[in-house]
Amino acid sequence: MSMPSVRRVAQAFASALLAATTVTALAHDAAAADTLGSAAAGKGRYFGAAVAANHLGESAYTATLDREFNQVTPENEMKWDALEGTRNTFTFGAADQIVSHAQSRGMKVRGHTLVWHSQLPSWVSGLSATELRSAMNNHITQVMQHYKGKIHSWDVVNEAFQDGSSGARRSSPFQDKLGSGFMEEAFRTARAADPNAKLCYNDYNTDGVNAKSNAVYAMVKDFKSRGVPIDCVGFQSHFNPASPVPSDYQANLQRFADLGVDVQITELDIEGSGSAQATNYGNVVKACLAVSRCTGITVWGITDKYSWRSSGTPLLFDSNYAKKPAYDAVLAALGGSGNDGGGDDGGGGNPGATCTVAFTRTADWNDGYNGEVTVKAGSAPITGWTVTLTFTPPQKVATLWNGTPSWDSSGSVMTVRPASYNGSLAAGASTSFGFTAMKNGSNTTPTVGTCTAS
Ligand code: G3I
Repeated sequence: MSMPSVRRVAQAFASALLAATTVTALAHDAAAADTLGSAAAGKGRYFGAAVAANHLGESAYTATLDREFNQVTPENEMKWDALEGTRNTFTFGAADQIVSHAQSRGMKVRGHTLVWHSQLPSWVSGLSATELRSAMNNHITQVMQHYKGKIHSWDVVNEAFQDGSSGARRSSPFQDKLGSGFMEEAFRTARAADPNAKLCYNDYNTDGVNAKSNAVYAMVKDFKSRGVPIDCVGFQSHFNPASPVPSDYQANLQRFADLGVDVQITELDIEGSGSAQATNYGNVVKACLAVSRCTGITVWGITDKYSWRSSGTPLLFDSNYAKKPAYDAVLAALGGSGNDGGGDDGGGGNPGATCTVAFTRTADWNDGYNGEVTVKAGSAPITGWTVTLTFTPPQKVATLWNGTPSWDSSGSVMTVRPASYNGSLAAGASTSFGFTAMKNGSNTTPTVGTCTAS
């Protein structure tokens, strides 16, 4: 067939698809905001989760992560003991695994954490002041340079203030041997190591106005007045009945923002259940949205099953990955639709579920092409699937059929889940979805990520 006739056939094919009843008209910013990440993106924020590398092989865990979140924080893998257990010998494997998983799906990464008194190898606390300064600066520099360009925000210093009314610095090898100036030095070293990463101070029990948050506030104000590089303050926001969401939560976020830093909710979890937990979660999200410099929210884990305080069931998904009322409250507060297209409802819990994916470019013309993606269940039946395609800008998807798409904030990473009728597949069975992409000058075929099943 000559080129012009190929083009005519392809265009006719695309036109027929546009007319077909199964075609979903797409505008990236109007795509159904039916996940936490896409709803948050609609508000100009990220919505993330702390992630553990050793759970990434669990299909329900990864399917939930990939479907719902557009930011990750390694829960333990970037801490000093994980990265530099032996002086100047760096072990990046587990952290790299999380970063590459996130990158391949267009998720932002928060780096947690460079200088912290906890999860610190014993060799650090044995050093002299001179050696400790050198080790601290080397750790910051080596780690940040390894991840240069890949980390959205770094918790440069974590939990350096005491609880209670003193407003004093917490005793630590850094504080005790280097004095309070260790924080300024850490931030200056961090800026030099990766000038494009946002540099945060991160702490807990600083969520309302109190002596501890006042001390952090004074430090940030001092840093800003003297030009010490600091871009953001993280509010961990670990809440339970003994430590509830403070009534001045939003006001506290706002007063820090007014100092000229971004604020981020970095480790959110709220113990409880049902509507009480849901109300608290909704209020935290609303507070962030009311503060223009509150740039994102990270929950400290995906499922209650793996929470650091699992018995308090503090997260948005229960231990079977079912959405809790708290999930619905967060999605509603973010302005999401709650319509997940009728596919996987998060009830996962199907550990044998696997799928594979194959991509074919089925038609091509000057300024567009059609792609077909076939999803095949593995040796067990599945009830949902997720496939991510990464497009080369400025390509744009114009239409998609037989699937439900959502987009990352860049508009280049498309996550597709089932339409209402093709999420459940018998063992070994297949379904396909298709799309029309406009080339806009780029002819590159999209990168197709692995298929995750539930
Ligand atoms: O991986 C080992 C495992 O091999 C061993 O068998 C087991 C036995 O105890 O320990 C496992 O390591 C545990 C690690 O979590 C991974 O699960 C450590 O003992 C445990 O101490 C560690 O807890 C972490 C805690 O930080 C340490 O301080 C939590 O997962 C993590 O959620 C928590 O996160 C902190 C933030 O970094 C800072 N803010 C508070 C937050 C909650 O405590």
